[in-house]
Amino acid sequence: MRASATSLIAPLVARGAASAQDAAPPGSEESTRAGIQAVLSVNGQSHRLTIDPRTTVLDALRERIGLTGTKKGCDHGQCGACTVHVDGKRVLSCLTLAAAAEGHEITTIEGIASPSGELHPMQQAFIDHDGFQCGYCTPGQIMSAIACVKEGHAGSEAMIREYMSGNLCRCAAYPNIVAAILAAKPKMES
Ligand code: FES
Ligand code: FES
Repeated sequence: MRASATSLIAPLVARGAASAQDAAPPGSEESTRAGIQAVLSVNGQSHRLTIDPRTTVLDALRERIGLTGTKKGCDHGQCGACTVHVDGKRVLSCLTLAAAAEGHEITTIEGIASPSGELHPMQQAFIDHDGFQCGYCTPGQIMSAIACVKEGHAGSEAMIREYMSGNLCRCAAYPNIVAAILAAKPKMES
């Protein structure tokens, strides 16, 4: 299975994991005292946060900034539900430290419609083609699908299935997701 989104900061993850053994639990008084300052740019808006150094982009978005459109599925880089864009590239936000995203532009599902509220062509295509059932995986699917088209990996059903294989759907809406991406592609390219 080809991973569709990556971690921005593998070295920092490794460092964080090593030091986490000795660190206080996130949210504890001790860890708050040891918090770091980070300014995250999300959907064009700056957010100044004091965070535990181990805070992921996913937790910063959901728990600190209040953008809950990005979903936590496995929290281990295996399902794709947490996919966001960092500088236009798809990234697994559960594996990306917020501190490492400073200075980069994060885009979430809340940030892809036009300022007037018109849905992104990929959002509209998912609706038109019933590309979801429960909807839990859908924000990650849509963010990954937009990147899949921009990467040039949506040239055929087979390519889409390959390059979307890192985004799992427990409802198995895969045929409709592929149809939605095929429909949105020409609209994104026009
Ligand atoms: Fe990030 Fe599953 S929640 S890959
Ligand atoms: Fe339910 Fe994908 S629509 S998990």
